[in-house]
Amino acid sequence: MALIIHGGTLITSAETFQADIRVEREKIVEIGTNLKAEPNTEVINAKGKMILPGGVDAHVHLDLPMFGTVSSDDHYTGMKAAAFGGTTTVIDFVPQEVTPLKANIDLWHHKADAKAAVDFGFHMNITHLDDQVEKEIPQLVKEGISSIKVFTAYNNRLRLQDGDIFKALRIASGTGILTMLHAENGDVIDILVKEALKSGHTSPSWHARTRPGWGAVESVARGVALAAMAEAPLYIVHMNMAGEVDQLEYGRQQKLPIMGETCPQYLFFTEEELEKPDGAKWVCSPPLRDLQDNQRLQEGLQKGIIQTLSTDHCSFFYDGTKPINYEGKPIAIPGKELGKDDFTKIPNGLPGVGDRLPVFWTKMVGTGKITANQFVEFTSTNPARIFGLYPRKGTLEPGSDADIVIWDPERTVKYGKDVAQHRTDYNLYEGWELKGFPEKVLLRGKVIVDGKNWLGRAGMGRFLPRHVFSRVI
Ligand code: URP
Ligand code: ZN
Ligand code: ZN
Repeated sequence: MALIIHGGTLITSAETFQADIRVEREKIVEIGTNLKAEPNTEVINAKGKMILPGGVDAHVHLDLPMFGTVSSDDHYTGMKAAAFGGTTTVIDFVPQEVTPLKANIDLWHHKADAKAAVDFGFHMNITHLDDQVEKEIPQLVKEGISSIKVFTAYNNRLRLQDGDIFKALRIASGTGILTMLHAENGDVIDILVKEALKSGHTSPSWHARTRPGWGAVESVARGVALAAMAEAPLYIVHMNMAGEVDQLEYGRQQKLPIMGETCPQYLFFTEEELEKPDGAKWVCSPPLRDLQDNQRLQEGLQKGIIQTLSTDHCSFFYDGTKPINYEGKPIAIPGKELGKDDFTKIPNGLPGVGDRLPVFWTKMVGTGKITANQFVEFTSTNPARIFGLYPRKGTLEPGSDADIVIWDPERTVKYGKDVAQHRTDYNLYEGWELKGFPEKVLLRGKVIVDGKNWLGRAGMGRFLPRHVFSRVI
């Protein structure tokens, strides 16, 4: 059925203007004033509300096995939580566990396709490189995958040596694939972890103390240099350090095609959280840092040094021995308690996919640090452009998918786990007063969130094959 959204204020990354939107067959077909509703057209009155393109979260982990358990949000529950927070597209990571690469992708489709509740894409992790994998990377394009992730940490598990990163960068860029970098120093981490455990340091704060920030700074500098030598574009994921922003800025000043992402947890929390009795809730890699890092990362966004805000959503229960009620059924999944006697056994990762838009709006738009247009740029338009989804996603234009958030900038919410909808027993922003919240969320023209009501369903999200050689911003 056709739909008109009437009287809202449209916010794109470039403009703010009052208009109506006509939606037909899943697409925006017209934007204008006083659009007439034909018979059988549904009309949504959006007077006094803002209309944003659906959020695009380019960094989530769903149903990810880790440390003998699995992340607690799967492709249904995580995407449902995304939708409640105004995000209608997510990009998940396929681990490289078996050969060939395609077998890993098939497995991930098997997990995701029937459960997906919003639209989604895949990045491919490259954690082992040999002659065969080198030949397979260009074939990812046929699978609709136009980005790979490499790591300088997690020795003997996920890390690639510098030579292999250099090779991967060259092969990827030759076929229009973007390389993403997890930047920490795996060698230093291994030494410090061994020393900490030998000295009997087992609490969560040692997770951060054994992953020094300089390792991230040096690793971003290394990644930028490797990308320059490989003449390849590079995207730095989950930036957490002021010094990483400096390295990114330096690379960009040299006119290198280097881009970066940060996440709300690195903007609004510090390492002090890990000292709390429930500090395990904040264990993620890379770890939280200090106030100066928060500020420089915020400045990195304000100055356009950093291009995107993702979440690195990778949720676990805090106490996975106690069931929660999820859609009327009890569920418990082993989580952070696995590391109660040893920080190296705490599953790494945080819930966040549903929190991103309301938290970022409250803290950055609400305080005048960025404009509403910049908000859309970081959370929707730039990730869509960088990852080959634009203009299908990331904007409000005739021809774009009708992924639309009717946003109430005046709505205040006492936030926490019950509002957030992630399938876990805690929320990082418990008790925060948030101002600015989605009122309705549409996926390809269908209302999937209406206030507190869930109208979406498993399987309605579609896999998004992505373009190659997409925009370097
Ligand atoms: O702690 C985190 N971020 N877990 C997810 C894996 C990663 O490196 O992004
Ligand atoms: Zn990572
Ligand atoms: Zn991640």
